[in-house]
Amino acid sequence: MSVLEQLITKLPKTELHLHIEGTLEPEMVMALAARNGISMPYATSQELAAKYEFGNLQEFLDLYYQATAVLVVEQDFYDLTWAYLLRCQEDNVVHTEIFFDPQSHTDRGVSFETVVKGITRALEDAREKLNIESKLIMCFLRHLPESSALATWEEAQPWLSLIDGVGLDSSERDFPPSLFERVFAKAREKGLKVVAHAGEEGPSDYIVQALDLLQVDRIDHGVRITEDDALMDRVAQEKVALTVCPLSNTKLCVYDDMAKHPIFTLLDRGLRVMVNSDDPAYFGGYVNENYRALVTSLNPSSEQIIQLVRNSILASFMSDELKAHWL
Ligand code: HPA
Ligand code: ZN
Repeated sequence: MSVLEQLITKLPKTELHLHIEGTLEPEMVMALAARNGISMPYATSQELAAKYEFGNLQEFLDLYYQATAVLVVEQDFYDLTWAYLLRCQEDNVVHTEIFFDPQSHTDRGVSFETVVKGITRALEDAREKLNIESKLIMCFLRHLPESSALATWEEAQPWLSLIDGVGLDSSERDFPPSLFERVFAKAREKGLKVVAHAGEEGPSDYIVQALDLLQVDRIDHGVRITEDDALMDRVAQEKVALTVCPLSNTKLCVYDDMAKHPIFTLLDRGLRVMVNSDDPAYFGGYVNENYRALVTSLNPSSEQIIQLVRNSILASFMSDELKAHWL
């Protein structure tokens, strides 16, 4: 194993951009479909996995939402989350901040309670049995109207003690952050952390909107910031984190080659970037695999790798005490 490989494997890491529905492996899709008596348009997990070639974000999302249909009862959400947490243990991820998409479930008749109870029971077990800490972030689907986000916010009220933040995800183009100003203001008023996907496929102006209108604590993806020099300076100065997802960006054709990924350019310019897996079941790997892909294509120094890992701790929503422990 190379020095960098060892570093990646051994360093305790945090993950800040992970959609729990994006950890639904093809084998689990087929197993849950059988368990819940749901027919899928694929005969085998291999047949499903063969479809994981995406030309853009929307092609991925279409398949991702289709697969969530196999998640029905609380135990399904528990099993999904627990399987991801076991992968965290393998990759030495000690703290993870998990997104979930309630609307993709409640719109199918699965209750908010079912979703949140299944996920948080697994998070609680991981705290006790695996020593893995976590935060939970509820995302609004931006392709749905503001009224749906506001209704979801109301549904979440009895469960707010289990939810640490809100986010914004799904189809980015034509769905600017400005559409969700009011629901984000409500979340901030309740003291929740706020984040938003911006500048993945959408223009860098969406990053500005997320900062100025939604007042986010972090930007998810944000790689299209490279198109705006002044914004790069601002984000560096304000120490706003960008939760970068390298394998996601190549798999969704934001870059046609990992060698063109700007993560180290951004890092060397002083931006708080780090490595995350986004939807690992679909994009070819969990967090260590994302680091390995960067090493293979971009030949970073060990100092750069260490800085990425440190940035992830600094940008996390863990307590200052825990940050000091892991730094
Ligand atoms: N972008 C936007 N929405 C998403 C993603 C993503 O990468 N993954 C799951 N929902
Ligand atoms: Zn994402």
